[in-house]
Amino acid sequence: MISIKSSREIDLMRQTSALASNTLVYIEQFIKPGVSTEELNQLCHDYILEHGAYPSPLNYNGFPKSVCTSLNEVICHGIPNKKDILKDGDILNIDVTTFLNKFHGDTNKTFYVGNVSSELQKLVEVTYKCMREGINTVKPGSHIGDIGAVIQEIAHGHGYSVVEEYCGHGIGREFHEEPQVVHIGKKGTGVEVKPGMTFTIEPMINLGKRHCKLLGDGWTVITKDKKHSAQFEHTILVTEEGHEILTLRPEEPVVFS
Ligand code: MF3
Ligand code: CO
Ligand code: CO
Repeated sequence: MISIKSSREIDLMRQTSALASNTLVYIEQFIKPGVSTEELNQLCHDYILEHGAYPSPLNYNGFPKSVCTSLNEVICHGIPNKKDILKDGDILNIDVTTFLNKFHGDTNKTFYVGNVSSELQKLVEVTYKCMREGINTVKPGSHIGDIGAVIQEIAHGHGYSVVEEYCGHGIGREFHEEPQVVHIGKKGTGVEVKPGMTFTIEPMINLGKRHCKLLGDGWTVITKDKKHSAQFEHTILVTEEGHEILTLRPEEPVVFS
C-alpha cells in the first residue's frame, strides 16, 4: 500500500527532511584529506541528536552507524570507520536519514575531497543531473517508470551504467515504504504518481559496469570492476502542481534544467 500523506503529515515530513538536508550542509566543512569517516559519522550523529532527532540508519536491520559513508568504488551503505581516512582526489557520498516527530527524511550527496580529477567530476555532475531530471518527471499522472527512463537515458548517453539492485523508495512513518523507485525503466510504466505521495529518488551511477558485490560485513556494496560510483538522493513530495523537493539545500537551484 502506498500512503498518501495528509497536510499535517506533510508538515512533519518537511521538518524531518529539512533536518536531514541541514545535516549535509553542516558536515561539508569537515570533509577534507586526513579526516576519517568515523569522525564524520560522529559529527552527524551529534548534530542530529542536538536537533531532537534520531539517525534512522543506527541499528536499522543491524546497521552499526548513524550515516552511510560510501567512498570511491563503494556504491552505497558504506560503514563509517577509523581506517577510512579521506585523501586528496577521493569522492565521498554521505547518506543521512533523520527520524523526527515520527517521520523519516532521507538525502545524500557525493562530495569532493580536495582536488578531484575531471573524469570523476564529470561522473558526479552527470549523476546529479540524472537525479534532477528524474525528479523533473514527477507530477500527478506521471508514472514511476518515467523516472528510471530519464535517468537511464542520461547515464547511458555518457557511457556510464546504472545500478539496478538498489532503489529509491516511499518514505514517511517507515524508512522504506512502497513504492520501489527503480532507476532504470520505460516511460509510462509502473505506479501512477499521485498528490501526497512522498518517495526518494537516489540513482547510483557507475563509471564502469553496473555490477555490484556485497562485502563480507553484510552492508558495503562495491562495484565489481572497482571503478568509481556516485550517488545523489532527495526526498520528494508530489503536489497538485508537480512536486516539491523536501531535502533541497540552499546551494541547489529550485528549478533545474
Ligand atoms: N539511506 C539509505 C537509503 O537511501 C538506506 C540506508 S540503510 C542503512 O535508502 F541501514 F544502511 F542505513
Ligand atoms: Co533512500
Ligand atoms: Co538515503
